[in-house]
Amino acid sequence: MTARLVVLASGNGSNLQALLDASQSGELDATIVAVISNNADAFALTRSTSSGATTIVVAAEPGELRAHYDARLADACAEFSPDYVVLAGWMRLLSMAFLAQFPQSVVNLHPALPGEFPGTHAIERALQAHQRLGLGRTGVMVHLVPDEGVDNGPVIAAVEVPIELDDTLESLEQRVHAAEHALLVQAMQHLVNAPRNP
Ligand code: GRF
Repeated sequence: MTARLVVLASGNGSNLQALLDASQSGELDATIVAVISNNADAFALTRSTSSGATTIVVAAEPGELRAHYDARLADACAEFSPDYVVLAGWMRLLSMAFLAQFPQSVVNLHPALPGEFPGTHAIERALQAHQRLGLGRTGVMVHLVPDEGVDNGPVIAAVEVPIELDDTLESLEQRVHAAEHALLVQAMQHLVNAPRNP
C-alpha cells in the first residue's frame, strides 16, 4: 500500500522537492498528501503548489503558546491521516503536544552525523571543527523523533560526507545537501517498506 506522508517545511524546500520527485517517479512508494509550512513566504510552498500537492500554511499567532500552536499543527496534520510526518527543513521545535499525536511516525533530517552538532548551523560548525581539529568528515542523518530532544532519536539512516582540504562553507553545504536529498528518500523508502509495530 502506498504510504501517506505529510511534509513540514519552513524554508527553501529542496528536501521536500526530493520527496516530491521521488514520489512522482515511483522511486518512493509514498504519496505526499499535504505540505504544511509555518512560514507563508517559504519557497517550499511554491514547490508544493507547482507539484499539485495540497499546500497549507499554519502560522503561529503573535504570543501563541507553543503547546497551543503544536496542538493546532497536530490537528492540521491529522486531517490527512499520515503514516509519517516528515520534518524536511522544519525550523520549529516540536513539543509533546504535537509528538504524542504521532508516535513512531515523526521523521527528522539533520545535516550532521548522529550525536553531532544538534541545532542550527550544523554544517558551519562541522567546517569550523575541521579547520580547528581536523574533523575530516561530517554527514547527514535521518531519525525518528520520539520526544523533545533536539536532532536526537532512533537513527533510520546516516551517511558520512568527507570534508575536503579546500572546502568552503558553500562547497561543503552543496555536498551535504546533495547527501540529504538522497538519504531522505532512501530512509523513507526503507520506512514505508518496513513492518510497523502494532
Ligand atoms: C536542511 O539542511 C535540513 O537538514 C536542515 O535545514 C535544511 C533545509 O533545507 N534542517 P531545505 O529547506 O530542505 O532546502
